[in-house]
Amino acid sequence: MSEAKLQLEAVDKIYNAGGARQVHAVRSLDMTVAPGEIVALLGSSGCGKTSTLRMIAGFEEATRGSIRLDGREIHRLAPAKRNVAMAFEGYSLYPPLTVRENIAFALKSSSLSKTAVAERVGEMAHMLEIEDVLDRYPSSISGGQQQRASLGRALIRDAGLYLLDEPMGQLEPQLRALLRGRIKFYIKERGLTAILVTHDQTEANALADRIAVMEDGVLQQFDSPAHLKDRPANLFTGTFIGEPPMNVFEAEVRADSGRLRFGLSGGVVLDYAEEEFSEALRRTLAQKLRVTLGVRPHAVRLAAEGAPAEVTANQWLGDQTHIAARFAGGSIVTVEHHHAPYAKGETIGVVLGSADLHVFDSQTGAAISHGGALA
Ligand SMILES: Nc1ncnc2c1ncn2[C@@H]1O[C@H](COP(=O)(O)OP(=O)(O)O)[C@@H](O)[C@H]1O
Ligand SMILES: [Mg+2]
Repeated sequence: MSEAKLQLEAVDKIYNAGGARQVHAVRSLDMTVAPGEIVALLGSSGCGKTSTLRMIAGFEEATRGSIRLDGREIHRLAPAKRNVAMAFEGYSLYPPLTVRENIAFALKSSSLSKTAVAERVGEMAHMLEIEDVLDRYPSSISGGQQQRASLGRALIRDAGLYLLDEPMGQLEPQLRALLRGRIKFYIKERGLTAILVTHDQTEANALADRIAVMEDGVLQQFDSPAHLKDRPANLFTGTFIGEPPMNVFEAEVRADSGRLRFGLSGGVVLDYAEEEFSEALRRTLAQKLRVTLGVRPHAVRLAAEGAPAEVTANQWLGDQTHIAARFAGGSIVTVEHHHAPYAKGETIGVVLGSADLHVFDSQTGAAISHGGALA
């Protein structure tokens, strides 16, 4: 990888430090973003996404740690000195200016001619589908239009880094999907570097080269969309990423006479030939009494010879079926890609292949293995 564009090192954010309402919003965050990369910060509400962006942009002070952009320490500089463009979660357009003036304002300090500014504003408005409201004031347009105006104001700038905080949260799904494609193209075509905050996995997957999954102020995993899906670093990302969520079972590990067995609740035993697991993994599992198993709903196979499960719900979603069933003292969800006929109360056979098994440490949640190999 070439030299880092952005580098966060041991960054902490504590609000009201020492006070009764102290909040440790971001904890010892290390993160490196490469030039031209789009990174998504993904996590549930309150996990520290906005705090992270605001520290990078300079609207919040980092309590500890350092932030470097293009090799330059920026965390003590005023926001205007950082060369960072940000689209805020709350839009924050200037009320006395029209949408056109709001977007053009971002080019105020550039050396562009009036005609060039007008042209760029026009292009931006066209891309974001807000041409029809360019001469309106922020108070007279919808939240979704304000959001796009704010996004345009950030993207039109010439900056070293673009920070977009939930830039499409107010838009209906079709427009969101359309703009997603256009914004990605815009950023990639120009080789810009961007961090996008979202709580929408689909948006993160569609837009980002890498996704940083956060929970409770802690970075859980920073990886490509494919690795997050296939190689979750811990039980949190395993269950957070993926729809419907990963099935999880507590299991007792038993190895004897060439077999590796996982004993689940309700007397269910998953029984595999030991060759399906690498030797290194077998050595690790031999030291464990209990582990936590994860299997994605898409990976569950239904076959007559499988372990019995009793169907509790069957939802046809138009292009796939989600089947929930009572299994191993709890429940299991499977996804079938056709209109599966199973009725409530019916018994189905569930097969969980070793290649689809994710094993996690029951105490720490850390991943032990994916498929038959160590994590
Ligand atoms: N100005 C503030 N003062 C005190 N607490 C704050 C402030 N801003 C955010 N927080 C708290 O910090 C945590 C992280 O917030 P935030 O970064 O906005 O999360 P996200 O953007 O992921 O929803 C939350 O618990 C939030 O209540
Ligand atoms: Mg936020």
